[in-house]
Amino acid sequence: MSLRLGDTAPNFTAKTTEGEIDFYEYLGDSWGILFSHPADFTPVCTTELGRTALLQGEFAKRNVKVLAVSIDPLDQHLEWRKDINETQNCHVGFPIIADENKNVATLYDMIHPNASATATVRSLFVIGPDKKIKLTITYPASTGRNFYEVLRVVDSLQLSSQYSVATPADWKVGEEVIVGLSLSTEEAKQKFPKGVKEVKPYLRYTPQPNL
Ligand code: BEZ
Repeated sequence: MSLRLGDTAPNFTAKTTEGEIDFYEYLGDSWGILFSHPADFTPVCTTELGRTALLQGEFAKRNVKVLAVSIDPLDQHLEWRKDINETQNCHVGFPIIADENKNVATLYDMIHPNASATATVRSLFVIGPDKKIKLTITYPASTGRNFYEVLRVVDSLQLSSQYSVATPADWKVGEEVIVGLSLSTEEAKQKFPKGVKEVKPYLRYTPQPNL
């Protein structure tokens, strides 16, 4: 059964390039991103893990801990990590889970047999500090993820977890946000002193409240 938004992210223990971890302990109170890649020593995956390492500062700023997973063994992960660091000019410091027994892949439904019977697809889960699943995205093996989009979604999720707002199509940090439907326009004016623009009773904008 696949995991859905709002479900509790299953806990697990796993062997990783950073030692044995308990997922929940590793996350602590942070947000988490767990993402699978099909296989070590493959080109698209090499660029993805490199990009994640290069964006480590952006993830840290947002209090997000990142973990990668594939069903390859630890010795291969460790060898491949050297290639990633060399070719992508980075330092991979986040754990890469060696999920040889497919425990994590099964818990998170990362093997889609009609795409590949043996490899994990490119699944990505954003997990909140409450250990609930906030976002899932699934890419095919041939498409590398857009990690700027992943950061953008984290920004949106974190904003809407703090304020009664949502973010419009193509929103980026600094742009106006949408007032949540749970607030009347009068209530919104009290909550958002920077101003509320009512285009329709159900479509109200306000400047990003935390800037
Ligand atoms: C890649 O990462 O390049 C890749 C992995 C598995 C299948 C196809 C591409």
